[in-house]
Amino acid sequence: MREHDVVVVGAGLAGMRAAIAAHEAGVDVALVTKLHPVRSHSGAAQGGINAALGNETEDSTDNHTFDTVKGADYIGDQDAIEILCERAPLEVYQLEHWGAVFSRQEDSGKIAQRPFGGAGFPRTCYAADLTGLVILHTLYTVCVKYDIPTYEEWFVTDLVTDDSGNAVGVVAYDMIHGKIETIGAKAVVMATGGAGRVYRPSTNAHASTGDAMSLALRKGVPLKDMEFMQFHPTTLAANGVLVTEGARGEGGYLLNKDGDRFMSKYAPNKLELASRDVVSRAEATEIQEGRGIDGCVLLDLRHLGRDRIMERLPQIRELAIAFAGTDPIEEPIPIRPGAHYHMGGVHVDNWGAAPHMPGLFAAGECSCVSVHGANRLGGNSLLEAVVFGARAGEASAAYAQEAPAPKVPTNAADETQARIEELLSRENGPRQAEIRDELATVMQEKVGVFREDATLREAKATVDNLRQQFQGVVVDDKGKTFNTDLIHTIETGYLLDLADCMVTGAIARHESRGAHSRTDFPDRDDENWMKHTLAYLDDGEIRLDYSPVTMTKYEPQVRSY
Ligand code: FUM
Repeated sequence: MREHDVVVVGAGLAGMRAAIAAHEAGVDVALVTKLHPVRSHSGAAQGGINAALGNETEDSTDNHTFDTVKGADYIGDQDAIEILCERAPLEVYQLEHWGAVFSRQEDSGKIAQRPFGGAGFPRTCYAADLTGLVILHTLYTVCVKYDIPTYEEWFVTDLVTDDSGNAVGVVAYDMIHGKIETIGAKAVVMATGGAGRVYRPSTNAHASTGDAMSLALRKGVPLKDMEFMQFHPTTLAANGVLVTEGARGEGGYLLNKDGDRFMSKYAPNKLELASRDVVSRAEATEIQEGRGIDGCVLLDLRHLGRDRIMERLPQIRELAIAFAGTDPIEEPIPIRPGAHYHMGGVHVDNWGAAPHMPGLFAAGECSCVSVHGANRLGGNSLLEAVVFGARAGEASAAYAQEAPAPKVPTNAADETQARIEELLSRENGPRQAEIRDELATVMQEKVGVFREDATLREAKATVDNLRQQFQGVVVDDKGKTFNTDLIHTIETGYLLDLADCMVTGAIARHESRGAHSRTDFPDRDDENWMKHTLAYLDDGEIRLDYSPVTMTKYEPQVRSY
């Protein structure tokens, strides 16, 4: 068995930032990732990272905090949001000092900041439209410099607990050699990203299957606010690939088939830069009421001109040409809302610690602190990953420094061993790809931008049925080397768990708040629903409980843009 003080699962922004913080705190920390670190989904983030630097206009941490509280539709925990916004400038400057190449203001040379949705001031720092990739590579160079051991292409299949229920390591499947390994640790930090692949299409990488959420859920740790799934307003129709909000931040317009800038009807002040839930609903309404074109509306960038598009949005141009056959310098891009980001995740406190399991921490999209509440602001995801990644790294290191040697059960890997043997020995049954496709389709159709009781219940019935089918799933590839059929099958099990939490939470929440928009309960109901949902897995069924929202100084108001 291998052993470290802290093991971090996932090597995107949150995972690498956590590992760096733990290393700097003086503990032996290792990364475990089913990918190579620079292939993590964080690299797909385009538009930027928020920090109230005030480089373009006056701004303040208070402004950033208020915008985030409002964007979250008042269900984000205000103490956590204050931490996020206060630490934001420090983290951005830290990234810059580590070598992240942010776009600059031409005259002053300061970090440039663009407007983003739901923000009162231009506060999003960016590296053209490749911000996530630039930060990901920067953090990777720091991990290499610190010589942080990294188990690459090791797929985590189990969270290990001791007799007292403390997290003491993980079981992983070494994908290259087909071997099952146990890694003991005094603390485990989960940072495996979101579960956007519950949907299709999705802006998320195929690897975004919510692994940590499901692993924690299966060990009795609740998931928080899973009904809140964000639909990004601008994704390509062909495959769901993201077209950054930065395109609207740079001045892009949204048009319907009649050429109207329809956002003036839905958000007269902020127009295209209202928060994402508002813009996605506006687009969905235009499309439903017949003012779309082939299920899309149009994103028009032509007036920005070639030079600005080439300087600020070069990747978007390439993606639009490749996947929509449209050069945005010449024509508008057809776009539509697409599944993008999960506001819910592993229930953790402001240090990323899971109250239900000592020794377990989580950060980034797989966690729910909660800073995003019912709707995340664009640019706050990369920020959350680095701020709460760093805090989870610091807290897990402090925990490990006090903790005794982990008591890893000798049979820790037996369950994984048995599960994999059973999967590989089965000869007939449904295939994971069929189950995944049906799941993603029903989620897209019935648990989308708008929801209602009847269709949510249909989705729940489908999820239940797919869970049944999954019991007999067959893996065709019986091999040991890089068996992606096996990995995808186990991931499909994770997606089914998470879909169940999402649908069950959505059926129960009888109000509309942020990204959870119920046509049968169109209003926000603070009296009854100003609370977080906690989803537990009890005997194969999802059970819901609720916990209070932390308020500091921001009273809930009517939310308009
Ligand atoms: O639109 C974007 O560039 C995405 C940013 C985000 O999700 O924060």
